Amino acid sequence: MKKVLVLHGPNLNLLGTRQPEIYGHETLEDINNGLYERAALEGWDVSCRQSNHEGELIDWIQAARLDGTAAIIINPAAYTHTSVAILDALNAFEGRVIEVHLSNVYKRESFRHHSYVSLRADGVIAGLGSQGYRAALQAVMSQPG
Ligand code: DQA
Repeated sequence: MKKVLVLHGPNLNLLGTRQPEIYGHETLEDINNGLYERAALEGWDVSCRQSNHEGELIDWIQAARLDGTAAIIINPAAYTHTSVAILDALNAFEGRVIEVHLSNVYKRESFRHHSYVSLRADGVIAGLGSQGYRAALQAVMSQPG
């Protein structure tokens, strides 16, 4: 079964109650459940994980190099704008990488306009809310390699 890893970075565990005017009312569990359902329909194995810790996200990216994961969908949250270490880990992963942001980061503060992860991402989706994750999953499942 083809595998896709969905990674959510810091503070995304608070979705639903965290600045809903920016990030929406859906919880992380709602988003993940939608992804599990869609992936199952197409015979894909999706694994969704969230961490507030940079190193834990990196450990999961490294593990994905070795376990047959075809693609990583990642919302690195604030680490998008700071983490060379996450970029390095993604550079060592050979499958597809799709970067997702719930909000349109380009409409916000200028420090959110730069993404280290975009230097590696094959695709970037920003500003579509939770729909962005679904679009990313669809893209991966229809064109895994
Ligand atoms: C975010 C945008 C980031 O700038 C922010 O730090 C987040 C979430 C988004 O999904 O819109 O935590 O990645």
